[in-house]
Amino acid sequence: MLFKQLAVPLASEVVDVDLSRSLDDDSFKAIDEAFNDRGVLVFRGQQITPEQHIRFSRRFGELEIHVLKQYLLADAPEILVISNMMKDGKPVGIADAGQQWHTDLSYVEKPSRCSILYAKEIPAPGRDQTYGDTCFVSTEAAYDSLDPDMKAYLGTLQAKHSYLKRPHIRKKLSEEQKQAVPDVIHPVIRTHPVTGRKCVYVNESFTTEIIGLKPDESDALIRQLCALCESERFMYRHKWRVGDILMWDNCSTQHLAVADYGPDQHRLMNRTTVAGPAVF
Ligand code: SIN
Repeated sequence: MLFKQLAVPLASEVVDVDLSRSLDDDSFKAIDEAFNDRGVLVFRGQQITPEQHIRFSRRFGELEIHVLKQYLLADAPEILVISNMMKDGKPVGIADAGQQWHTDLSYVEKPSRCSILYAKEIPAPGRDQTYGDTCFVSTEAAYDSLDPDMKAYLGTLQAKHSYLKRPHIRKKLSEEQKQAVPDVIHPVIRTHPVTGRKCVYVNESFTTEIIGLKPDESDALIRQLCALCESERFMYRHKWRVGDILMWDNCSTQHLAVADYGPDQHRLMNRTTVAGPAVF
């Protein structure tokens, strides 16, 4: 199997794999190892059904069902639809699944191990530009760049994460949905469950408070760590084509969907998320 490095320090393309077929164990092992090492994998030119998307995703673990049930595929609830399209006056998917830096589901006790996103429609590229790119940063590289005293200090801290951090931009939840996502506390530095590498685990979308610090100190530290993680030197920017499948690690990376397209430029993606362990 051939892997092509796309950026430093994260992201590789997996060349010559057809994900509509089931993978043999050796191929799966090679992909799994590359994934743990590189944090983001790209598969170009795929054509898969929801069942094939689910089958491939299940190789990495149990699948999650998103709290926004109105955007799940009716006959495949493991798939969350992300889209700005409308059908019969209703949105076909969630239009904003992440236009601030975040890592998926950091607001639950056991955040997703990885997310697998399949591009079905992408806004047509302009002459010099693509639209609706997704940017990724390596939170491992962000951690590695810290000095030893800061690493030691951050290693003692914990932070609160909340789905409700930005109620003005977040889809309104029913009372029942709110109860399904109470605030959680995670270490500020988490350990990757497979590689054992340390990662900064604070993000702009969901981290609300560093436990034990005064509010202004807590806000300042969250801002400082987010600015560090979001730095261009740790970044890969993916320019989508229809048929791309991207998978990313929700421990060692953060991402952001660039909202630079209008309502008539259609974007339609299917996403699965694979369950992960409690953060440590
Ligand atoms: C997500 O944050 O899961 C979606 C990213 C995207 O739509 O590009």
